[in-house]
Amino acid sequence: MRLVLLGAPGSGKGTQAELLKAELGVPHISTGDLLRAAVKAGTPLGLRAKAVMEAGQLVSDEIVLGMLEERLAQPDAAAGFILDGYPRNVAQCEALEGLLARIGQPLEVAIKLDVPTELIVDRIAGRAAKEGRKDDTPETVRERLRVYTEQTEPVAGHFAAIGKLTNVDGVGELAEVSRRILAALPRSGAPA
Ligand code: AP5
Repeated sequence: MRLVLLGAPGSGKGTQAELLKAELGVPHISTGDLLRAAVKAGTPLGLRAKAVMEAGQLVSDEIVLGMLEERLAQPDAAAGFILDGYPRNVAQCEALEGLLARIGQPLEVAIKLDVPTELIVDRIAGRAAKEGRKDDTPETVRERLRVYTEQTEPVAGHFAAIGKLTNVDGVGELAEVSRRILAALPRSGAPA
């Protein structure tokens, strides 16, 4: 299965990808997690990305594409992937299509998790209290939501235009949301 999970910050992309990866037999590839690992390791790329992430802005397309290309070249991604946090603007959509065509792994489906903004703000506040992620402060969350509306929402329109988008209600128990996602997958990706 080659799947992109779309949705606002806090819509549950990472949570659902972790729940579904074993069932689908593919890795969860999160560009946010890859960037946070680079920041933690203090690599040159991480040093460049840190302030951008803490301001709630997007890291440069070039850096993120390079990171993603390396990750997709790892053996576990030969079976497919659940991509979380990429693409995040229309330029990244085009870059992804080019990359997947080069490696012969075309995307099967994009699923967008729909969650109202009030719930998103509550969920991120809950995560901030538990995990203390640096970009979960109220003002950075406002900026992340603004950037999402401006740059990432058009990505859903792009996938809709090529007939690959399915919207899924992201409100409810985790297992229920997982069931809705599985039901929305093309048959070849459904569990046996
Ligand atoms: P990234 O890590 O991708 O963050 P995000 O898209 O803002 O998404 P989140 O991780 O906040 O939310 P999520 O949808 O995964 O929700 P989660 O499952 O955690 O990106 C961070 C930054 O990195 C960006 O701002 C940017 O700077 C940079 N970046 C990343 N990718 C980039 C790219 N492609 N280009 C440029 N820059 C990039 O859930 C949230 C909370 O809700 C959790 O506490 C969870 O337990 C809870 N929850 C989940 N589901 C439910 C449910 N059904 N009911 C109740 N609670 C729930």
